[in-house]
Amino acid sequence: MRIQDNSMSGLLAGKVILITGAASGIGLATARLAVLEGASVLLADHDRRAGEEALASMRDAGPRVAFACTDVTSDQQINVAVAAALKAFGSLDGAFNNAGISTSPAVPAGEKAADTDDAAWQRVFDVNVTGVWRCMRAEIRQMLEAGKGGSIVNNASIGGLVGIRGHAAYSASKHAVVGLSKSAALDYARTGIRINAICPGVTATKINEHLMGDVAQKAVASIPVRRFGKSEEIAEAVVWLLSDRASFVTGSAMTADGGYTAV
Ligand code: NAI
Repeated sequence: MRIQDNSMSGLLAGKVILITGAASGIGLATARLAVLEGASVLLADHDRRAGEEALASMRDAGPRVAFACTDVTSDQQINVAVAAALKAFGSLDGAFNNAGISTSPAVPAGEKAADTDDAAWQRVFDVNVTGVWRCMRAEIRQMLEAGKGGSIVNNASIGGLVGIRGHAAYSASKHAVVGLSKSAALDYARTGIRINAICPGVTATKINEHLMGDVAQKAVASIPVRRFGKSEEIAEAVVWLLSDRASFVTGSAMTADGGYTAV
């Protein structure tokens, strides 16, 4: 991928952004757009091979992109990722806590709430909720120490605003991300650190590869614009939230869902 060196201009000019789950889908699209908008980006993902491939695909950005193999269920690895951003780029101005998993395939799509297995429930909460909280904790501590404020975006979902039949654990975890983001936004409102949640609708990525054939058609029929979102469209909203243009926006749960939750 060809990335122009427009590091002196753009929505995120001169900012350092950490992105978790950056090796694929929405995280990768956001990393690419952030770099195009002038940021330096620390890609963090637990999939080393995919992370290194993502880094290689952005090699035109040169020294403005680095990768740290990071599992968001490990405090130690998260601290290493924050330290890597500081070492490579000198500061931490923003973060997109995006790494997340769905209950499928751990729980087959369509399994009812009372049938969800304890281990699958725990795993979804460990990554989607505790993972976001752990990342935020490390990022906020760093931002407070630097004293320059910052912007944090947590990836929730439309499943954080409405229920999803057959995905109770996932939806509950994403409701928790919305509550966590709003509460933390209040806690840090007077420090210059803004915290928002993004709530994407169904977006064509690996996480919902199980949406095939008839299931996909039914899903599309429930979306007012009659199509799935693209990762690049979610990235546009995230990059704006990360930028100073969103200076009065904190504690919001912004949708990018083709009208799904407007019905
Ligand atoms: P994806 O599967 O393409 O990307 C997820 C990335 O997170 C992968 O690179 C994966 O390696 C990484 N990851 C998973 N567990 C991790 C861990 N423990 N530590 C570090 N990295 C980890 O999926 P997608 O769709 O890009 O998902 C990104 C986020 O968007 C997730 O939080 C998901 O819940 C959310 N989302 C996705 C929607 C969709 O329809 N695709 C809709 C609403 C929200």
